Amino acid sequence: MTLQADLLGDVAEVLVTEEAIQLRVAELGRQVSDDYRGRNLTLVSVLKGALPFMADLMRSIDVPLRIDLMEVSSYGGTATESSGLVRILKDLSASIEGEDVLLVEDIIDTGLTLNYLLRYLRGKNPASLRICTLLDKPARRLVEIPVDYTGFTIEDRFVVGYGLDFGELYRNLRFVGVLRPEVYTGQG
Ligand code: IMP
Repeated sequence: MTLQADLLGDVAEVLVTEEAIQLRVAELGRQVSDDYRGRNLTLVSVLKGALPFMADLMRSIDVPLRIDLMEVSSYGGTATESSGLVRILKDLSASIEGEDVLLVEDIIDTGLTLNYLLRYLRGKNPASLRICTLLDKPARRLVEIPVDYTGFTIEDRFVVGYGLDFGELYRNLRFVGVLRPEVYTGQG
């Protein structure tokens, strides 16, 4: 999709400010550090949306850890609706057998993507498997997901920024916001 984007001008509303994100990520980092002290922590993150969250979270954690990255495609249908189809575009690069894995996600919406990923990762025999998500949109959940760490619970709106995209754009915003309706409809 090609968009004539105006990075800041296209934003209708800031939902989570940069300051709020940084404070919450620091809190989550402290919590994770306390919970994983003395264990074999591996953070597994899902490209591309979780990239900024992963980068900030890992630096807020003060216990030794490894990281690994996966990439999945979760939107086959439209730009803002999950298709339920999940394809692995990039697999783990190392074994997680016996590791205490914390899956780092950008947002849980229907939960379909994560549901697939959880089953996939469980099959690799980690010692434990937990979930940390920056954003949770429980209103649209189709499958139950046991979320262990949540940054912010938000209402049912399509959000961009801090890694999240619309048509691959807006990931570099430092906050999480909502776009003006004209952007989605391609007018204006
Ligand atoms: P789910 O399978 O419906 O839970 O969708 C999860 C994935 O859809 C996330 O990892 C995002 O990549 C994408 N997604 C869901 N909601 C939003 C949103 O509000 N903005 C941007 N991407 C979203």
